[in-house]
Amino acid sequence: MENQQEPQFNQWYETNSEADQLLRDAAANATEQHDELSLRPQFLREYIGQAALKDELSVYISAARQREEALDHVLLFGPPGLGKTTLAMIIANEMGVNIKTTSGPAIEKPGDLVALLNELEPGDILFIDEIHRLPTNIEEIMYSAMEDYFVDIMVGQGPTARAVHFPLPPFTLIGATTRPGMLSKPLRDRFGIINAMAYYTSDELQEIVVRSSDIFNAPIKPEGAYEIALRSRGTPRIANRLLKRVRDFAQVQGKDAIDKGIVDIALDKLRVDNRGLDETDHKFLGTMIDYYNGGPVGLSTIAANIGEEAETLESMVEPYLLQIGFLQRTPRGRVVTESAYRHLNVPYQKEL
Ligand SMILES: Nc1ncnc2c1ncn2[C@@H]1O[C@H](COP(=O)(O)OP(=O)(O)OP(=O)(O)O)[C@@H](O)[C@H]1O
Ligand SMILES: [Mg+2]
Repeated sequence: MENQQEPQFNQWYETNSEADQLLRDAAANATEQHDELSLRPQFLREYIGQAALKDELSVYISAARQREEALDHVLLFGPPGLGKTTLAMIIANEMGVNIKTTSGPAIEKPGDLVALLNELEPGDILFIDEIHRLPTNIEEIMYSAMEDYFVDIMVGQGPTARAVHFPLPPFTLIGATTRPGMLSKPLRDRFGIINAMAYYTSDELQEIVVRSSDIFNAPIKPEGAYEIALRSRGTPRIANRLLKRVRDFAQVQGKDAIDKGIVDIALDKLRVDNRGLDETDHKFLGTMIDYYNGGPVGLSTIAANIGEEAETLESMVEPYLLQIGFLQRTPRGRVVTESAYRHLNVPYQKEL
């Protein structure tokens, strides 16, 4: 539990309680990012879960390495926090190549793309996060880059404009998206390896929590790790975040190991219930039950009621509720299921 740096940070934090809030936020943010980096597995063998995906990838990686070729382009999709970015980094490590990271909206002009591609050495990886947000004109340039390793772009304007042909080294594009439906078919078709990331099982998340607490040097009991796993919505990022908060509670209460009791106390304080639902989930289901008799009701109506973007709800909130069978999508709208009523302790009285 006793980590060299921790008490110092906490002392600083406490004795400067009236210090500039911005500074503290920045420090917290930096810690968060640092933790995310240190928790990231580096190689496939350390990557927990997603067994089918790992098996498949390791075959493609070995084959590409044997042939000394660039790996085929890879598209990874799934809800946030399931490990897409982590996997992209791992693929680069396993291939023994460099990786350049960017995101769809960050590439505004053809020149931005050329600048990125220009820095690649043969076999390197270009990782584009949120690839569904790539501007259309950039996407079109991407087609020839992916298929034949060249780009033709217009340089200059008006009468002096001319087409310039840039040959590229063989490279691998790894695209990640939380919204595969928004990807155009021509772009999707140019990926040779397309994989959906699945929510993690509780056993896998328990393993991730144990691994992370080892890295944090924070002893944890198996039931404590399992309880965090149960409440993490199938998502490693959430599991790690909850672990950090629970660790704080355990430390302040002088526990030498994180057990189920302290997990229950901490997560109740954080208002994460025993199925991992948080306040947004409760608002979502509560609104449907209280105002629309559990549905069917359109997503945009629910979004307007709870003051969230429909898009956010669709990619971050709904997938898990659908997965655990608390919500159904019907042609007439979303419907709250009987098991959700049971979980929320609300009598289920719908006429059939
Ligand atoms: N299979 C795994 N094994 C262990 N830890 C994992 C695994 N997958 C993800 N993690 C942890 O979860 C964190 C979040 O993963 P990552 O950032 O790769 O998610 P993401 O899918 O890229 O999310 P987003 O869609 O928000 O970009 C990582 O810092 C890593 O520590
Ligand atoms: Mg990511």
